[in-house]
Amino acid sequence: VTTVLSHDEARRTYDRIGSLQDSQGFYEDRAVERLLAHCELDAARSVFELGCGTGRLADRLLAERLPPEARYRGIDLSPHMVSLARARLAPHGDRAEVVESDGEPPRAEPTAAFDRFLAAYVFDLLSEEDIRGMLAEAHRMLVPGGLLGVTGLSTGVGPVSRTVERAWRWLQERHPAWVGGCRPIDVRPLLPEDAWTLVHHEKVVAFGVTSEVLVARRAGPAAQPA
Ligand SMILES: C[S@@+](CC[C@H](N)C(=O)[O-])C[C@H]1O[C@@H](n2cnc3c(N)ncnc32)[C@H](O)[C@@H]1O
Repeated sequence: VTTVLSHDEARRTYDRIGSLQDSQGFYEDRAVERLLAHCELDAARSVFELGCGTGRLADRLLAERLPPEARYRGIDLSPHMVSLARARLAPHGDRAEVVESDGEPPRAEPTAAFDRFLAAYVFDLLSEEDIRGMLAEAHRMLVPGGLLGVTGLSTGVGPVSRTVERAWRWLQERHPAWVGGCRPIDVRPLLPEDAWTLVHHEKVVAFGVTSEVLVARRAGPAAQPA
């Protein structure tokens, strides 16, 4: 059984969680660090982030990792998260913008407009259909050669992390909101091989919790605006 939160349930859950989300750093930070190491951020000019939460990653990117001329656009379906992220990113002025989304793949975002598309701990709470939709939009929104960077909860790789995975799944199936709707999932098999070139893929285990780190380069010519 896979119990995925509807967009409305996810919105209510994350409106409630708000800034508590940042306490997940104990198992997320190591994987995010590995993700950033492979995203060639010093060459990035235009970064899009799906499910930006409190803006924690964006703040770090803008303060420490991106060139001064680089711009950031984040979306999130939780109005509370959007307001937290806007407040946190205010010191970056017009380099950063955060907008509320309806939870659907972002079809209204511009075509071939970004050189990075990032998502941290978001795909793991989406249905497979939504993940495929997000990947299709990422492909359309990225310029040729642009990078997709994804990390999130994933399947275990050793006895301890597999036990944690089973326990997490057990909980998620019974009380999805208790774990923010997130369940262990592997995104790599969902990435269309003809549209992407894998740049980096690894599993990172922290405190028994496994995360997948995936960076892929957009292949093919630029998408044409509809
Ligand atoms: C587990 S939190 C991760 C937040 C942040 N990326 C981080 O790593 O701290 C998931 C975030 O994705 C947002 N989210 C969930 N489903 C979404 C969807 N379908 N579209 C956009 N954002 C979504 C939630 O509101 C929440 O802020």
